[in-house]
Amino acid sequence: MLSNDDIKKNLGFAAADYVSSGMTIGAGTGTTAYWFLQALGEKVKQGLDVVAVPTSTATANLLIENNVPLKTLNEVDKIDLVLDGADEIDPAFRLIKGGGGAHLQEKMVAAAADRMIVLADASKLVSQLGRFPLPVEVVPFGYRQVQQKIAKTYGIDVTVREKFGAPFISDHGHYILDCHFGTIADPLNLHAWLNQIPGVVENGLFLQYATATLIGYPDGNIIFT
Ligand code: 5RP
Repeated sequence: MLSNDDIKKNLGFAAADYVSSGMTIGAGTGTTAYWFLQALGEKVKQGLDVVAVPTSTATANLLIENNVPLKTLNEVDKIDLVLDGADEIDPAFRLIKGGGGAHLQEKMVAAAADRMIVLADASKLVSQLGRFPLPVEVVPFGYRQVQQKIAKTYGIDVTVREKFGAPFISDHGHYILDCHFGTIADPLNLHAWLNQIPGVVENGLFLQYATATLIGYPDGNIIFT
């Protein structure tokens, strides 16, 4: 049986086989995407000709380290394929993302892409979204109003994500509220409701972007669907 890290490493290397020369790709964020970026770096060394749009500062740094040419989202017209991780995937390929706090940029990159392959170990597959706390990115000004509104409306715990005892700050200078829904009965309505609250920048529900999944299992199997 493979360790979780070995599953992610295998996934990252398998994902690189879906990239071909001439593509503009979206490069995801997280521990699974990390291995994809290592694999991509090796392919670029062997002559693969790609341009990558990073979904976070951390990913931009990894692309630079691996000598993968990069462009910002403003420098491309569109993206051919995004390869990114997820925190949960339901049977309709709807996702929760943002465990790494990068879902704003990840969603903008996904929205600009023709296709998105989600890379995840099988533990991320769920029948219903919501067990993983839904990340909601908010502007720091008045964030407690947003926190209370979500908590009271749904009767759930909403916590401010912290790092080293202080609020975690996203790449774009925002806070992250982790919303402990448990189960999300109607992701479409929740998505719309959250994003209309003044102060909410973006939530971690990705409802229409994933076009395929690459799922890694502890026995070493990797299944593309
Ligand atoms: C970052 C994300 C990641 O894709 C998600 O958290 C999965 O990460 P990992 O591959 O480390 O489990 O959405 O914002």
